[in-house]
Amino acid sequence: MTEDLFIIKGTKEEQYESLIPQIQALLEGEQDLVANLANVAAALKEQFGWLWVGFYLVKDNELVLGPFQGPVACTRIKKGKGVCGTSWLKAETLIVPDVEKFPAHIACSSLSKSEIVVPIIRDDQVLGVLDVDSVELNQYDTIDKFYLERIVDMITINI
Ligand code: SME
Repeated sequence: MTEDLFIIKGTKEEQYESLIPQIQALLEGEQDLVANLANVAAALKEQFGWLWVGFYLVKDNELVLGPFQGPVACTRIKKGKGVCGTSWLKAETLIVPDVEKFPAHIACSSLSKSEIVVPIIRDDQVLGVLDVDSVELNQYDTIDKFYLERIVDMITINI
């Protein structure tokens, strides 16, 4: 396996379409969850250059910080708290165009302006979340939701 990611310019869809087979290749044959989450976070960060890309995993009924790329972040989030805890509670993807307008938002970095959180669900259980933050307002939309949910599905197949 090559460890170099092929980075492209183009529309958001083109970038995801280029990235997804590469993520598939990174995940293939590797069962270790931490290794896979680490590479997915790195691949997304490298292609899109977002502020923060990472995972929180459910442990003892809390979200605990997992593999990520970006500035240091809060380590524990309770169910229903913040965008991550709300996504976990509702078991659904949340798109937050302006974090200041999401009352429960937890500001790990003052640079974060918008965010998308995708739950990792297997057998109707939320195992964790993928959290992505941007320095731009309105960064994420239904295109990101579609592709990030696909990427999270690829991870859950391997868990
Ligand atoms: N903003 C998140 C907290 C995690 S950091 O953004 C990395 C939230 O409100 O849950």
